[in-house]
Amino acid sequence: MSGIDAHLRELYQEVIFDHNRQPRNFHAMPDADRVAEGYNPLCGDQLTVYLRVADGKVEDVSFVGHGCAISKASASLMTEAVKGRPVEEAEALFRDFHALLTGTPPEGRDFGKLEVLTGVREFPARVKCATLAWHTLHNALTGEHDPARTE
Ligand code: FES
Repeated sequence: MSGIDAHLRELYQEVIFDHNRQPRNFHAMPDADRVAEGYNPLCGDQLTVYLRVADGKVEDVSFVGHGCAISKASASLMTEAVKGRPVEEAEALFRDFHALLTGTPPEGRDFGKLEVLTGVREFPARVKCATLAWHTLHNALTGEHDPARTE
C-alpha cells in the first residue's frame, strides 16, 4: 500500500473490520431470481450470491457463506456497491474492480469505498479473497451455472 499514509491505512482497516464484523446484506434471498456459488480452492472458502434483477437493474443483492475477513468484507462492500445499479454497470464495476486489484484500472474511475481493498494488491493470495464475491457476482449476472473459482 505504498504511497498511502498510516492514517489512511488505519481508516481502510477499520472499514474492512466493520464490514467483516457486521456484513451488509448477509442473508439468503428466498425470492432471488439468480443464484451463484463461488469457491476459493486455495483455502476452501465458499459463498453464495443472490440477485433479484428487475427492469435491467440489480434490485436486490445478498450473500451467505464463510471466508476470511477480506472475503467477507469485500462481499459486503460488493453488495452495497451494486445494489440499485443497472446490470451493465454492475458488470463494468466487476471488470474495473478486478483491474484495480490485478492490473491497471481505467483512469478516472471513482471506486468509492472499494478503495479500502487496494491494500491486497501486493498479495496475490489476498487478491483471490477480495475478488471471490465479485467473480461470483459476475456468474450470477451472466447466468453461469458452474461455480465461480478464483483459480
Ligand atoms: Fe479463504 Fe480468504 S482465506 S477467501
